[in-house]
Amino acid sequence: MSSNDKAQHPSTGDQVTLQAGDRSVSLPLLRPTIGADCVDISRLPKETGLFTYDAGYTATASCKSAITYIDGDNGVLLYRGYPIEQLAQNSSFLEVSYLLMNGELPTPSEFAAFDDEVTHHTMMHESLKNFLGGFRHDAHPMAMLCSSVASLSAFYHDTLDLNDPEQRRLAAIRLIAKVPTLAAAAYRYSVGWPIRYPRNNLDYVDRFLHMMFEVPSEPLELNPVVRKALDLLFILHADHEQNASTSTVRMVGSTGANPYACVAAGIAALWGPAHGGANEAVLKQLAEIGDAKHVDKALARAKDKDDNFRLMGFGHRVYKNFDPRAKIIREMTHEVLGELGIDDPMLEVAMRLEEAALKDDYFVQRKLYPNVDFYSGIIYKALKIPTEMFTVMFAIGRTAGWVSHWLEQQTDPEFKIGRPRQIYTGADTRDYVARDKR
Ligand code: SDX
Repeated sequence: MSSNDKAQHPSTGDQVTLQAGDRSVSLPLLRPTIGADCVDISRLPKETGLFTYDAGYTATASCKSAITYIDGDNGVLLYRGYPIEQLAQNSSFLEVSYLLMNGELPTPSEFAAFDDEVTHHTMMHESLKNFLGGFRHDAHPMAMLCSSVASLSAFYHDTLDLNDPEQRRLAAIRLIAKVPTLAAAAYRYSVGWPIRYPRNNLDYVDRFLHMMFEVPSEPLELNPVVRKALDLLFILHADHEQNASTSTVRMVGSTGANPYACVAAGIAALWGPAHGGANEAVLKQLAEIGDAKHVDKALARAKDKDDNFRLMGFGHRVYKNFDPRAKIIREMTHEVLGELGIDDPMLEVAMRLEEAALKDDYFVQRKLYPNVDFYSGIIYKALKIPTEMFTVMFAIGRTAGWVSHWLEQQTDPEFKIGRPRQIYTGADTRDYVARDKR
């Protein structure tokens, strides 16, 4: 079966039987291409009146997807079957975007056509400059990005008919093309610089760097070390199966909302410090720790149940081993700082923190390892990306994954509106009492 097919994975033929008092039901087991079998519980309420409870969906598959596979115990990450290490070594963010969207690596002519189409959709409507102009200069760029992406549906009425596959595809292209432009515009506005229009003669990453850092007073020298590091960071952040923000995009997509609203919702979800906001939080935390000699105090706080301090950039819902992206980023951090001749004391603090945590029982027993956010902020800082823009950088990369999941969802034969149930813990039925009788 090609990775692009939406063929329904047949059940394994095995069943599991659930016995609850005098009620019992046999439920089919579904077998994925790789990974654990899943119990299909969709018949459970109808046949037994029972529901399942799973706070945070830690043990629940919300959909079938052919895009990304994660093996948390072994630290494996595949985009459409290709190991992240091989894509990091050999591919580019734009090629990975094509792969995630279409299921296969592009031929040279397919890539050229994709690159050309994305390049010619990078400009934003001129009115969006006024929109951004309505913000105070100290507005967080995630607030500006989230709202400007949501506003795109107001400009592009030709991509709102979700029954038209071409309109769906074009909306995805527009989002991959325009999110960097909107991100750079938000940054330029926050520092009071004139907005820079996208240059078609530059490739995806150079075009973004130019929009971010080129100033009227002098030409921008594009450093090959910087652009290679940024392209790699975008690849590593491009997708991660059903993480909180991608699940949000799918939940909003399940209502038939337009793709711009779906991705804006994903941006909002990513902003949280437990998710994509962690990269910004890591740098602030490293700055607070300040020196390697304070690392033990930070670990003690992270372990203290009465302190809501957590080691940002550590732990993961799925990875109970090294996050493969963190390994690649850690190596890249040393390379980039070395090649740029930067001696950042925060790197020493981060390395000491990682070394101490990986030897500490509390972290070892809970299988808490550095995740994608632990080192990425140090590189962004070296690339002169301001801290408030770190999660925006995550959003630029993840837009490729969000639109790919949205596209996959729209043609899913089992597509339905997302509507989880609950365990009701409120008051039992009771009668209204007139106010003067209470
Ligand atoms: C991303 O899902 C994805 O794929 C996300 C992501 C992606 O690409 O989309 O990979 C990107 O969001 C990475 C995660 C970035 N967030 C952080 O770095 C924030 C710090 N991490 C934690 O908040 C936490 O580890 C989470 C949110 C990442 C995971 O939370 P879980 O799975 O709900 O973990 P948990 O709360 O069940 O923790 C299990 C135990 C708890 O202790 P006990 O109650 O068992 O005693 O581990 C502890 C937690 O208190 N713990 C931590 C910790 N993370 C978990 N203790 C200290 N520091 C931490 N970072």
